[in-house]
Amino acid sequence: MKIIYNIGLLAGIQPEGVLRVEGAAQGQTGMLRDAWLAIENGRIADFGKMADLVGHDVIPGPDRESLDAEGGMVMPGFCDSHTHVVYAGSRDGEFLDKINGLSYEEIAARGGGILNSSDLLNQTSEEELYRQSLVRVQEMMAKGTVALEIKSGYGLCPEGEMKMLRVIRRIGENVPATVKSTFLGAHAVGRGYSHKAYVQAVIDMIPQAAEYADFIDVFCDEGFFTVEDTDRILSAAQHLLTPKIHANELAVSGGVQVGVKHQALSVDHLERTTEAEMEALRGTWTMPTMLPGSSFFLGLPYGRAKDFIKAGLGVALASDYNPGSSPSGDMRFVMAQGCIKMRLTPVEAFNAVTLNSAYAMGVSAHYGSITRGKKAALILTHPGWDLTRLAYQYQTPFIRQILL
Ligand code: NIG
Ligand code: FE
Repeated sequence: MKIIYNIGLLAGIQPEGVLRVEGAAQGQTGMLRDAWLAIENGRIADFGKMADLVGHDVIPGPDRESLDAEGGMVMPGFCDSHTHVVYAGSRDGEFLDKINGLSYEEIAARGGGILNSSDLLNQTSEEELYRQSLVRVQEMMAKGTVALEIKSGYGLCPEGEMKMLRVIRRIGENVPATVKSTFLGAHAVGRGYSHKAYVQAVIDMIPQAAEYADFIDVFCDEGFFTVEDTDRILSAAQHLLTPKIHANELAVSGGVQVGVKHQALSVDHLERTTEAEMEALRGTWTMPTMLPGSSFFLGLPYGRAKDFIKAGLGVALASDYNPGSSPSGDMRFVMAQGCIKMRLTPVEAFNAVTLNSAYAMGVSAHYGSITRGKKAALILTHPGWDLTRLAYQYQTPFIRQILL
């Protein structure tokens, strides 16, 4: 048993059984000032007010460790439900094109973009790909991420996609963070395939991918895969892989509706949405997930997170960490953009990067809040921090210790 005492603020408390928060509930979270928290076998065993703790409870003993939080905040670690951190090399060569005004689509049309990363990945050994990707996951963990999802989608051929899925699995086996895996064969049409032949190739890869992955994703957007392609691919994956869909980044694509039809766990991006998308999501188990890092980097509109919440929906925010549209896995920056650019309150943004993003990758029974029985995957901050300051003073180092 480990007891953390003198916690200035215990933030993110939720009752057992709350797997996501929606509408007005997204603006609320439980907080306890001057608190303690006990950990047993890596799980949150109990917590309460310092005033109710007896002095000898914090004295270390043969079966009790103790940690003086010295007035710091304890909060659940960040959950990042959408990343592409397994990739080879970099796309810094395209950065100048972007600065000079070329759009994401124009860069892709010139042979840059996803196909550029795909060429690099297919030239890189599995060992080297693991090494490069692990560094990024370690960077994310150092910034407080305790659970993350990683997608394939830069192989774009059977060998390359399976190589990526093996690397994702190996990362999950070797880091203390929980890693969920998504098969995104339909990220772009692989070199040497016609569009039609590639969609069939993706369908043919599904049974093998299902041995490694938890989820299936399709980039359902203008210039990539159509609603019909997505419908075919998700139908083929039924009962094998749960969908999480890239939708409505470049256009109002119909991706939200086809995702909901296939009971997607999340539909992600949503830079472009109308009332029809909100209506389609109402009453479903699908979590709308927005990725402000790619709005920032590509100069796209920010998702209408505030309108979604006002409409009674929940929203998750994730980093989209990838070489082309969001080269950052910093969840605090995501949270700050949620507040500054999407007008979320700090608590709404906090719930979006913890409980709701845990839900969006199927781990919110274990992560995303301070709840008895959940994993003690926690951030202990320096003294004086709270959830508002976390988003407001978004560059100041705040982590004293990560418990994972
Ligand atoms: O989520 N939109 C599609 N896929 C990624 C970008 C991948 C890339 O450009 O390498 C995204 O933004
Ligand atoms: Fe993405």
